[in-house]
Amino acid sequence: TTIEWEAESYDMDGHDTYMHKEICEQADAVDRVLRGRIDDRFATVHLGGLGIDAREARAVRRVKILGCGSAYHAGQIGAQLIEELARIPADAEPASEFRYRNAVVDPDTLYIAVSQSGETYDTLAAVQELKRKGARVLGVVNVVGSAIARETDGGVYVHAGPEVCVVSTKCFTNTAVAFALLALHLGRVRDLSVADGKRIIAGLRRLPEQIAEILRGEEEIEKLAGAYANARSMMFVGRVRGYPVAREASLKLKEVSYVHAEAYPASELKHGPLALIEPEVPSVAIVPDDELLEKNRATLEEIKARSGRILAVGHQPQDVADHTIVVPRNEPELDPILLGIPLQLLAYHAALALGRDIDKPRNLAKSVTVE
Ligand code: AGP
Repeated sequence: TTIEWEAESYDMDGHDTYMHKEICEQADAVDRVLRGRIDDRFATVHLGGLGIDAREARAVRRVKILGCGSAYHAGQIGAQLIEELARIPADAEPASEFRYRNAVVDPDTLYIAVSQSGETYDTLAAVQELKRKGARVLGVVNVVGSAIARETDGGVYVHAGPEVCVVSTKCFTNTAVAFALLALHLGRVRDLSVADGKRIIAGLRRLPEQIAEILRGEEEIEKLAGAYANARSMMFVGRVRGYPVAREASLKLKEVSYVHAEAYPASELKHGPLALIEPEVPSVAIVPDDELLEKNRATLEEIKARSGRILAVGHQPQDVADHTIVVPRNEPELDPILLGIPLQLLAYHAALALGRDIDKPRNLAKSVTVE
């Protein structure tokens, strides 16, 4: 596989940038992370490299996910999926914060290190510190045989294929899907019902076609990007499932277009950031049709009342927003996987409109192997 990946990675496949190529590969990449893992008979998934039996999985009291940048954001989606499907308390933290705060290492906690490259120094150092203290650490990693893959006790490979662009896109999406698989597995050895297992599996199977559908809307997103590329700054907001999506979209825009952006939980706006809202500071709001839709609509009203422009991303057009990007609906737990994809395209087209060096943004490296 490694040889095949390397050959592929030099081929632009008719795209002008690797970022665009990698965004467009996401339906196939998601298909790959699912392949051979679904077990319809028991409404669960098989994760061959996990190295945890059912009894051990049931004994886990807490899950702590560690990673940097996009890997950390994918880990935030993962923590929510694990809480929702397996009902295990879970949270994500930047690996660097974890390693420097002399964290209490708990024997009943399952630690999970997340990394595309498997070589990020802060994440690797967190794994080594955890291992030294006797913790069980899994990896959710893309690069097979990388340092983090080798140092962890087991894990789930992300199978996104090679990601060349410094800006992570398909690997972020595949990592979120890998977490959905892990959450489903943990859920089904605990209290997730067969019916819910089947519902999530059906949702997972719909993802590749739904991603393809989102990507077919690229032209419309390109036009929107032109309208937002000259913003002085942008505010990204979301609630619960939408919040990691907002954070990742904000990071994407910053790193590739150099447009300043901030991400906040929608409910935090009124505690300070609302002061920034004005016509030159548009907002991107993640508004899925879930139990928080009415709350999110109230946030849109709050922003509109301060004459802020709004781009909504959700499952139906939002009247208060200036524009809505409508994405296909999946199961509520899996919706975050899809909601961020149009915003990768938004960041890409904003960067293109501004003439940025898309595959190699200034000051950044693909993997940060130093402290
Ligand atoms: C993503 O777009 C960034 N370039 C960056 O945040 C990246 O996700 C981070 O450095 C972690 O890298 P890793 O997944 O290889 O560990």
